[in-house]
Amino acid sequence: MEKILINGGTPLRGTVEISGMKNAALPIIFACVLVKDKCIIENVPNVIDVTLSLDILRCMGADIKTIAKNTVEIDCTNLKGGTSSYDMVRQMRASYYLLGTEFGRFGKAHVGYPGGCDFGVRPIDQHIKGFEALGGNVVTEGGYIEIDSENGVIGNNIFFDVVSVGATINIMLAASVGEGTTIIDNAAREPHIVDLANFLNTCGANIKGAGTDMIKIKGVKELHGCTYAIIPDMIEAGTYMIAAAATKGHVRVNNVIPKHLESITAKLEEIGVGVEELDDAIIVDYRGEFNRTTIKTLPYPGFPTDMHPQMSVLLCLANGVSYVSEGVIENRFRYVEELRRMGASIKVDGKTAIIEGGNALSAAPVKAVDLRAGVALLIAGLCVAGKTEITDIHLIERGYDDIVGKMRGLGADIKKIYFPDNASVQKAT
Ligand code: EPZ
Repeated sequence: MEKILINGGTPLRGTVEISGMKNAALPIIFACVLVKDKCIIENVPNVIDVTLSLDILRCMGADIKTIAKNTVEIDCTNLKGGTSSYDMVRQMRASYYLLGTEFGRFGKAHVGYPGGCDFGVRPIDQHIKGFEALGGNVVTEGGYIEIDSENGVIGNNIFFDVVSVGATINIMLAASVGEGTTIIDNAAREPHIVDLANFLNTCGANIKGAGTDMIKIKGVKELHGCTYAIIPDMIEAGTYMIAAAATKGHVRVNNVIPKHLESITAKLEEIGVGVEELDDAIIVDYRGEFNRTTIKTLPYPGFPTDMHPQMSVLLCLANGVSYVSEGVIENRFRYVEELRRMGASIKVDGKTAIIEGGNALSAAPVKAVDLRAGVALLIAGLCVAGKTEITDIHLIERGYDDIVGKMRGLGADIKKIYFPDNASVQKAT
């Protein structure tokens, strides 16, 4: 087993380089299923979910090579549809992009039900609504989601009942190589949706309006290979911005698109943190006591739900009572229990965390319960003197490229250690 050990209390200082965006890399990697040619993807983050996605495609017959640091060549010419591993697919949510790509390429799909972070119910009804609008007949049986169709994907107009990143991506994937024109209304507007559209258009697709709430996709006969670089990870960047502020440090965050971080920057300034925007970097500077604030997480360009746990840690250090309402995910409050072990005074009322700031946090042994909860605990450990240890750190490494190395580069006293789990020790004795 592995755990992260932190000896906290040191302000972070220096420069950190942001990696490619996990939530852009995943749909772009699966989008290669639509391309019977070589695609070279650059700025790919070295995180568990990317490795797993590449392994899923390899097991389906894709030819995948690492051709340079953070650069992979993916050739899905010989990929066999409907052959993904049930157990691998259930280890994350993004594997459901196989539905849109298999439906687009083969006119049918056979994919195990997706897994992913445990946020309570994570419905896929909007994905199914979209596939049916495109002429798919969707059934779930034996743990698999099956899509069948008379004539493959036929373009149509789709209005999503809720804004859904995954459903917007899945329908864009399927419709990009189908017949006819598809209009997605009430589409998600996240930067990673724009990145995927740009990748598909570089492969010869005809997609307009990505980044707005209405996306128009004209299906094309086939896509050709290309070379494409993933955008920087705005959530990784936001995480380091909050870590810099919470540890009372001074950090330059390199390789960012400041526009993607506007809602995070605005909130940090409101709290009293110094934030300076450069062309492709952001400088975060501790400027003294933190003000309380109220946050509601919303689809982009609102405050990102994936920054909710991290911001709650910062607000534990602010003066007064702050509120963080979760407007996107069903239940994203599992981090609260673990933060309470470190002395946080947080109550959850419905979908709002009520955070009483000003109580000193204390080091403690804690568990990463999901990706962003885990990194929030890491930030908390960095802020408090004493030894914090975090287990289940694979959940953090699903989405953060070399976080221990990058934090050490900023002066943190943090390391990853390997140790036999209790069971194996008991067996040994
Ligand atoms: C993506 O999840 C991200 N995951 C999540 O990031 C992120 O939190 C989320 O988008 C919101 O930005 C990946 O990109 C791999 P959704 P996804 O479809 O696609 C409702 C991380 O930490 N909904 O926008 O699952 C439902 O309430 C992860 O990197 C339906 O009702 O997000 C859901 O909670 C965690 N029906 C909410 O929308 C549907 O068919 C957001 O879902 C689909 C969604």
